[in-house]
This record gives sequence, C-alpha cells and structure tokens, in this order.
Amino acid sequence: MRDMRTQVGIIGAGPAGLLLSHLLHRHGIESVVLEARDRDYVQRRVRAGVLEQGTVDVLVKAGLGDRLLAQGLPHQGFELRLGDEAHRIDLTELTGGRNITVYGQQEVVKDLIDARLADGGTVLFEKPVASVHDLETAAPYIRCQDGTEVHCEFVVGADGFHGISRAAIPDARTYEFEFPFGWLGILADVQPSSEELIYAGGEGGFALHSMRSPEVTRCYLQVEPGDSVDNWPDERIWAELRTRLGSPGGWELTPGPITEKSITPMRSFVTEPMSHGRLFLAGDSAHIVPPTGAKGLNLAVGDVVVLAAALEASFQGDDSLLASYSDTCLRRIWKAQDFCAWMTGLLHRNPEADPFTERIRQSRLREIFGSPSMARYLAEHYAGYPHG
Ligand code: APR
Ligand code: PHB
Repeated sequence: MRDMRTQVGIIGAGPAGLLLSHLLHRHGIESVVLEARDRDYVQRRVRAGVLEQGTVDVLVKAGLGDRLLAQGLPHQGFELRLGDEAHRIDLTELTGGRNITVYGQQEVVKDLIDARLADGGTVLFEKPVASVHDLETAAPYIRCQDGTEVHCEFVVGADGFHGISRAAIPDARTYEFEFPFGWLGILADVQPSSEELIYAGGEGGFALHSMRSPEVTRCYLQVEPGDSVDNWPDERIWAELRTRLGSPGGWELTPGPITEKSITPMRSFVTEPMSHGRLFLAGDSAHIVPPTGAKGLNLAVGDVVVLAAALEASFQGDDSLLASYSDTCLRRIWKAQDFCAWMTGLLHRNPEADPFTERIRQSRLREIFGSPSMARYLAEHYAGYPHG
C-alpha cells in the first residue's frame, strides 16, 4: 500500500481512537485510524456497559445519540448488598439529577464505526502499527507492520493497554497496582432479575448483577487471579451468584443459558506524562482502572474531549491546551483511580486480609447503608464528573 498523509494519525479503533476521529472530523480536521484487528472482532469485544451522564451528553452532542437514546437503559440508582441486607443508592436524588445509562460498549463502538464510515472517514482494519517516529519534529510518522507509513502532524496512541505507543514516551513513570483477585464475567440469554444493577460485597466475595438489554443478563463474580473458566461450569456460577447476591425481601435470581464466560485480572495503572513531542496517549494506553466503578470508557471519553479541543486550538495556532493536555487529564484520572480503588476495596473480600480487617470492610460497607454523606460520596463519583 502507498504511504499516506493526514493531519492526525490515530493508532487503535477502540472507543478512544474512534471518538477522537469523529470529534476531529466535526472540527474539520482530517485523521486516519489504524487498527490491528478486523472490524468484526472490534465490534464484538464485550466490555463494561455503564455510561456516565457526561459521556451520554458528549455522544449525543456529537450526533451519536440515535441508537443510544432508543436502546440505552437509563438508571436512576443501583443497589448495594451485604448478605441479605440491601440498600438502594438513589443516584438522581443524591447527585442533584444525574444518572447513568446502561449501553454495551461494543454498541458505542458500532455507532462510532458506522458514523466514521458514513462521513467518509478512513478507518483501516487489520493494519497493525509497528512503530512511531520523529515525534520531536513537526513531521512525525507511523510505520505499520506491512511497511506503510502514515505521515501526519500529530500521532495519537489510542491503542489500549497492550499497544505499542506508550513505550515511545522516554522517561515515563508508571504507577501500578494489581489486586489479589480477578472477575469472572458472564453473559446469559435471560431477562435480568432486577431493573437496576446490584453490587454485592458480602462474606463470600464480590458479585455484580448487571444487564445488556431487557433480554440479556450480565453478571460478575470475584475469583482468584489465576483462575480458569474451566473451573466454572454454569451450575457453579449460578449457585455462587445466588449465594453472594443473597435474597433480601425474597428476591430471586433467574438463571439462563450462558453464552459467554471470561476471566479478567483487576489492576490499576497510570503512566505519566501522557504526551511526548507530537505523540499524545488517550484511553487505556495511558490508564487502567479496576472495573468496579465502571469508569474505563468514561475516562477515555474524558481524555478525547480534552484532546480534540486541544488539537483544534493547535491547528488554529494556539498550542497551550496541548501543552497542558497531560496534566488536565491526569487530574481527572487520579480522581477516578482513587474512587475505583476505594469501591473495589469496599466490595471485595481480600484473600490476603486478616479477619479483623475483613470485619472492618464489612462495617464500612454497612456504614453507607445508614449514612447519607457516605452514600453521596459514592453516588457523586459513580455518576461521574461533567466533561469539558
Ligand atoms: N496497531 C493498531 N492497533 C492496535 C495496536 C497496534 N499496534 N495495538 C492495539 N491496537 C488496537 C486494539 O486492537 C484495540 O482495538 O487498539 C485498540 C484499543 O482499544 P481499547 O482497548 O478499547 O482501548 P480504548 O479505546 O482506550 O478503550 C477505552 O473502552 O474498550 C474499553 O476497556 C476499554 O474501558 C476502556 C475504554
Ligand atoms: C457491566 O454491565 O458490564 C458492568 C456494570 C458495572 C460495572 C462493571 C461492568 O461496574
């Protein structure tokens, strides 16, 4: 393939890269998105599905709201459980009117790909990037594994946690924490057993009851980090979910055919700074949060909103927003890191903790049931911080 030239070369067609390309297009800035995997794979990858109010607002304002508003499920609250004790967190009331929307992340990705292609955008699938070059000059370029070079004015590394772009930042500092457990996630073809999400943090370990649609249930169980799905036949999963979610007020979990099972590790990760010369990182390439607070996609959107505005200003001759890009994003990212680590610690049984510490954890969770100020802290961070 011939070499290419564009204004912004974007590595990765996840939510971060695709949304950036879309927002740039709306500002009249051209970009090329290079994605290692094929389109089908990217559109099918199952990830968390909670959009903060601010994220929904960004997507709707960017003209991406058609399916999201029709099919997304707005939630005004969620439930916390500890054994058979249950407490509803009323997000709307506790945050002065904010809520969340349950809409699968792969649906966001589908909407973004459709919008880019309908607008004549260039998204090249099965085009893995090998390396990035000349980042300290005004003419950086990206080299793909097949030898194609993409010459551009700016390079954006939106290539996720396993991408290649992060390594191009010399002297970067990384901060990392690995939790001593993982999440087993399942999708099941059965009507959700509750209209709202249920987060349970009892003695037996964490469980989450969520959903993808009125016909599809999504659930998670805390498991050991190196555990394998082979150890989790369907009956064991449903039995464990039933035990951990409890049965407050006679509530019952409805099992159904499980269509997907996977185990993911739980980690927190941040790299600083998020830019070097003409390279800017966005999304999972720069930071990972444990999924308990459902912040991964929302943080990526936060980065991209800041980056799109900064690139637009730069093309008009003002580089100040690009210069502060990393610091601006990192403030929001550390706030979310703190919240996600707090919520994770609160709801998971730490296998390394002594029995005293475990009792303290349970007591802290119960404290939220009775304390409006603790509940407000949880609700405000969970519902998210407005973008831009
Ligand atoms: N060349 C091209 N593409 C690459 C390369 C490479 N060398 N390495 C990785 N990629 C692609 C991956 O195949 C993936 O499609 O980059 C994309 C990164 O997408 P995500 O992992 O989804 O990362 P991001 O867009 O930052 O996601 C933000 O959405 O998908 C979730 O868990 C993610 O919550 C996070 C949020
Ligand atoms: C999900 O539905 O996939 C989901 C919901 C809430 C979380 C994490 C994942 O905190």
